[in-house]
Amino acid sequence: MSHPLEELRESALREINAAPDAASLEVARVRYLGRSGSISAWGEQMKTLGSDEKPIVGRLLNETRNTVTVAIEQRAKEFRAKKESAALTQLDISLPGTPLERGSLHPLTQMLDRAITIFRRMGFALADGPDIETEWHCFDALNTPPDHPARNEQDTFYLPDGRLLRTHTSTVQIRTMESAAPPIRVIAPGAAYRRDEVDATHSPQFHQIEGLYVDKNVTVADLKGALEFFMHELFGPETAVRFRPHYFPFTEPSFEIDVRAKALKGGEQWIEVAGSGIVHPAVFEEVNKARGDNAYDPGEWTGYAFGLGMDRLAMILFDIPDIRLFAQNDLRFLRQFV
Ligand code: PHE
Repeated sequence: MSHPLEELRESALREINAAPDAASLEVARVRYLGRSGSISAWGEQMKTLGSDEKPIVGRLLNETRNTVTVAIEQRAKEFRAKKESAALTQLDISLPGTPLERGSLHPLTQMLDRAITIFRRMGFALADGPDIETEWHCFDALNTPPDHPARNEQDTFYLPDGRLLRTHTSTVQIRTMESAAPPIRVIAPGAAYRRDEVDATHSPQFHQIEGLYVDKNVTVADLKGALEFFMHELFGPETAVRFRPHYFPFTEPSFEIDVRAKALKGGEQWIEVAGSGIVHPAVFEEVNKARGDNAYDPGEWTGYAFGLGMDRLAMILFDIPDIRLFAQNDLRFLRQFV
């Protein structure tokens, strides 16, 4: 004959296994294991048993409680799994996910990276200087007299304290020579500012890559060789490059450099991409004065300098028709350079 506890256990297990959902399982749990449930009631009843029966019934009670507890947990787990898989069948895993947008480098930055890579192969190091400059670094030290049109207030952004937004990156030529003795071989990429009317090819902020090479016996041939190499690396070996005589106060002789390229409007034509020349001895003298030595003795040292129009180069390289696109942050434009 089986003990009533065993019968209780069997009916509990039957009820648990037959429970159709989590709510009825909870009802069963309370009925058997709750504080006033029937298994708990047996705990009370234990007190009334004699010492011969107590250990046997006690063991049976523990076993019953454990078996029922485990059965309830097991059944609850089944309900949870069922619920989860039901939720999953609602899910259309064939739907495309939310795309994660990847950023990319701005076309001017890409252009700059290419330029730096090419100049590094020729041994140029990177230099830089501030966008807000003294008149001395921007003009006087570069042999540019006070009446030169570039210094005109109409053409330049002056600050109340007399400093200005640099009108070219040639300021970094001076800063580099102030702080280091020759030989020098640097490029200095950065922004320059002029009071230009904004149109497809002009912007009050644009970008240049300045270059300065100072050594013994530097000639126009060195300048031509270096910049032709650069243009051929950037635009392809067939690209025609032209050095056109020009005037800059801080170089003598001076040249503007044109490349033959597909123009933004119309067919192929010469496009001006840089100013350049042989460093004027007066620039070395001015630097010597500032340094208080004769490190850049013009009888001993020679050099070439250039200023490449970075926006212009990028426009040619990437076939960009309008300089304003660089600063408008239009994603339809920028996404083309991912
Ligand atoms: N600084 C000149 C300009 O902005 C370019 C230049 C640089 C010319 C170096 C000669 C040497 O137009």
